[in-house]
Amino acid sequence: MQYGYFDDEQREYVITRPDTPLPWINFLGCEDYFGIISNTAGGYSFYKDARLRRLTRYRYNNAPLDTGGRYIYLRDDDAPSPTSWSPSWQPTRIPLEEYECRHGMGYTTIRSRLNGITAHMRYFIPLGVNLEVWELKLTNLRPQDANLSVFATIEFCLWDAMDDATNFQRNYSVGEVEVVDGVIYHKSEYRERRDHIAYFACSETLAGFDTNRDAFLGAYRGFDAPAAVESGSLANSITHGWQPIGATHTRLRLPAGGSKTIIYLLGYHENPSDQKFDPPGTQTVNKHSVTPIIRKYLQEAEVETAFIQLQAYWDGLLARLQVHTPDVHTDHMVNTWNVCQIMAAFSFSRSASYFESGIGRGMGFRDSNQDLIGFVHLLPAQARSRILDLAATQLPTGGAYHQYQPLTKRGNNEVGSGFNDDPLWLVLAVAAYIAETGDWDILDQPVPYDNAPGSEESLYHHLKRSMQYTLDRLGPHGLPLIGRADWNDCLNLNCFSDSPGQSFQTTTNKDGKVAESVFIAGLFIRAARDMIQMAQKKEGESAVKAYSMAIALMEQAVWQAGWDGAWFRRAYDDLGQPVGSRECTEGQIFIEPQGMCVMAGLGIRDGRARQALDSVAERLATPHGILLLQPGYTHYYLNLGEISSYPPGYKENGSVFCHTNPWIMIAEAMLGDGARAHDYYLRINPSNREEISDLHRCEPYVYAQMIAGREAPTFGEAKNSWLTGTAAWNYVAITQWILGVRPELTGLRLDPCIPPGWNGFSVQRNFRGHRLHINVYNPQHVSRGVVMLKLDGKQVVGNLLMLEPDGADHQVEVWLGQ
Ligand code: GLC
Ligand code: GLC
Repeated sequence: MQYGYFDDEQREYVITRPDTPLPWINFLGCEDYFGIISNTAGGYSFYKDARLRRLTRYRYNNAPLDTGGRYIYLRDDDAPSPTSWSPSWQPTRIPLEEYECRHGMGYTTIRSRLNGITAHMRYFIPLGVNLEVWELKLTNLRPQDANLSVFATIEFCLWDAMDDATNFQRNYSVGEVEVVDGVIYHKSEYRERRDHIAYFACSETLAGFDTNRDAFLGAYRGFDAPAAVESGSLANSITHGWQPIGATHTRLRLPAGGSKTIIYLLGYHENPSDQKFDPPGTQTVNKHSVTPIIRKYLQEAEVETAFIQLQAYWDGLLARLQVHTPDVHTDHMVNTWNVCQIMAAFSFSRSASYFESGIGRGMGFRDSNQDLIGFVHLLPAQARSRILDLAATQLPTGGAYHQYQPLTKRGNNEVGSGFNDDPLWLVLAVAAYIAETGDWDILDQPVPYDNAPGSEESLYHHLKRSMQYTLDRLGPHGLPLIGRADWNDCLNLNCFSDSPGQSFQTTTNKDGKVAESVFIAGLFIRAARDMIQMAQKKEGESAVKAYSMAIALMEQAVWQAGWDGAWFRRAYDDLGQPVGSRECTEGQIFIEPQGMCVMAGLGIRDGRARQALDSVAERLATPHGILLLQPGYTHYYLNLGEISSYPPGYKENGSVFCHTNPWIMIAEAMLGDGARAHDYYLRINPSNREEISDLHRCEPYVYAQMIAGREAPTFGEAKNSWLTGTAAWNYVAITQWILGVRPELTGLRLDPCIPPGWNGFSVQRNFRGHRLHINVYNPQHVSRGVVMLKLDGKQVVGNLLMLEPDGADHQVEVWLGQ
C-alpha cells in the first residue's frame, strides 16, 4: 500500500494520509538554523548543534509517536462540534475531511479541510537568517461568516537538550521569558552566561498568550487537548521556572469565501555579550537588533520573496546534475531526493533525525568524510571548509577524533579516537574534492592537529600521516590493526566487555596488537591509489614509489591471510582466528571486504574479484538488498563485541546495512555487470519500495540505514532513515559508476555500466565550470564499453575528457558497443 506519491514536476513527495507507518519527516534549513518536521508538523528546531543549542522540545521514544512540534489549533467559536482541531492532524488527531502534506526541498506544506475551513500551512527557513516561518492561510468555504480562534504553540527547550531531558532539579527553576509587543522571548539562562534567546512571534494582534505550559494545557492534560483551547482564552501567563512555552491566540472573523494569512516566526538571536541588556544594568533583553528582523519576516511579501529565494537556491543545487534514464526510480532519487538527503547528511552527519536524538552524536569523522564524496559537486566551497574542519581534528599520530561537536568544532573527548579506519577516509574525501573541482591548492592549505595553534602543516601532510597511521599499525599477518572498530562500529575485537552498559566502542580490554581488519587493508589500498596521484604532484617519484610499494605489500598480506578461497575474509580477532571465513560457524561471509577490496582493484584481473562478488550474490543478496553478513550471530561473542549484541537480521548483525550495498554496485560496475549493479541499486531504492510501504515503513523518498535482514522476523522493514552514508554512496554508485560520469583527478571519465536493456540515457552536469550535456547511446545493448566519444561533434580518443578551462557549455556524445 502507498501513503503518497512523487510529484516530479514540483519535486515534492505528497503524503495523502496523516497516519503513515512512522512519522515521515523532512529537513528544514541549510545554513545555521535547522529543523526536522514530520508530515503532521512534529519535530524540533535548533541552532547549529542539536544537543547544545536546542530551541524546542521533542519527545523521542514516546506514545503516541511523534510528540512535540509546531502545533496550530483551530477553534470554531461559532461552536458546532467538534469545536477545535489541529489542521496538521497531530496533536488532536481529530479526523480531517481532507489532508495532504507535501515535503519539498527545504520546506513542507500541509493542507487540510474540516467543517468548511481549509488550512494551508507552509513551513520553511529563509536563507541568511536564523528563524523559521510558519505561514498559515485559512479559507472559509462556508456560506456564512466564520468566527475562529487560532492558537499556535511551541514548547521551548532549555538549550542543552541533554540537560533539558535529565537535570530536572535545576531546570525546573531556570525558565524565564519576556512578552513584549505580542512577541514571546525565551531567555532562560540569559541572566548568566548565555547571550542568546529564542522568540516566537505572530503577525496578528494577540487576543492572549501563555508562556507557562501548565497554564495552557491545564493540569494533567497533554497537547492533544489543551484546556485553554477548549475554553477559548489564554491566561497571559508569565512562567517562572517549570516549562516555558510559546502559545498565542488570535481571533478572526472570516467572511464567507474569504481568506486570511497569518505568519508565525520562531527564531534564534544572539546579542554581543556587552550589549545583552536594555536599558543597561537591567535584566531586560536588548531587542534592538532582533526587532527589525522580526518585523521584516512578519510581512507576507517578505515571506514570499524568501520562499522564492529558497526555491532558487535548490534549483541551482539540483541543476548541477540531472539525469534522464529509462528507469523512473533512478530519476526520482538522483534528480531530487538523493540530493536532498545528501544535503541533510552533510549538515547533520548522524546527529539529529527521527532516529538520532540530537544528543548522542556530533559530526562523525568517517561519516562526514564519506558524506562529502556525494556532496562535493553541490557546494564545493562548503565541502572545502568541511574538509579543513575535519582535518583540524586529526591528531599528530595521524589518528583522528571519531566525532566533533558542530558548535565548537572540537574533537569529542568522550568518544576519543582509535578507530583505525578513520584517517583513511580523509584521503578519499580530499581526492573526491579535487577530482570534482580541480582545486589542487587545497593540498597546500595549512591545517592544525587537534586544533592546536602552531601545529599547522599542509593538508597534504595530514594525508600522509593518515596513510602512515595504518602502516605504523600492522598486525601479525601484516594486515592493519583494527583498533576500537573499523567502518563496522560494532566489530569490536578488542573490547571483550562483559559488563552491561559499557560502550562497545570505547571499552578496550586488549592491547590491540593482534586483531586485524581486511577491510582496512582494502581501504588503505584504495586510498593509496589516490595518494599516488597526489604524491606525483606534490613530491615526485620517490613518494610515488613508496606508496606503490606499500600497496604491493598490503596486497600480498591480503592474498596470504585475507582470502578465504571464494571471498575475502573480514578480520582476525584477538585470538588470531579469522572472522568472516568458512571456518567460522556463524558470520562466515561479510559484505564490507568484498566491496572495498574489489573497489581497491584487488583480484580484478585474476578472477578472484568475480568469485567474491558471486559469493555475495549467492549468500548475501536478498530481494530487499544485500545482507551485511551471513549467517547472523545467534548469541553474544565476547571476542566480537556489539555485532553479536543484536538479534540476527538487525543492524550490523546481518541486516541489509544499506551503506554497504553501493560498494557492491560499484564493484559489479567495475567488473562490467551493469544488469546486476542496477538490480542491486533498485532493491534498496526507496522509490522502488514505495508500494511496500506497509512493510518498509520508513519514508519512500530517502534511504534508510538498515532494512531488516532475512533472519529477522520483520524481514524488509526499514529503520533509521535519513542520516546514513547510504545517501552519498548510492549517489556515487549510480551517477559515477552505473551511469558512469565520473570525476577523476585528471578529468571526467565517461564509462557507463548499465543494464543492457537500456537504449541510452542523458546527463546534464556541471564540471569544473563547464555545463555538459551528455547523451549516451546503446544501440547494441551492451552493459559497458565506450566505442566512440565525441566532444562538440569531434571525436575524442579514449574515454577521459580533459576540458580547457573556458567555462563553456559542451555537447558530449557517448556510444556504447563492442
Ligand atoms: C553507523 C555509523 C557509521 C558506521 C556504521 C556501521 O552508521 O554512523 O560510522 O560506519 O554505523 O557500523
Ligand atoms: C551502534 C550502532 C552503530 C553505530 C554505533 C555508534 O553501535 O549499531 O550503527 O555506528 O552505535 O554510535
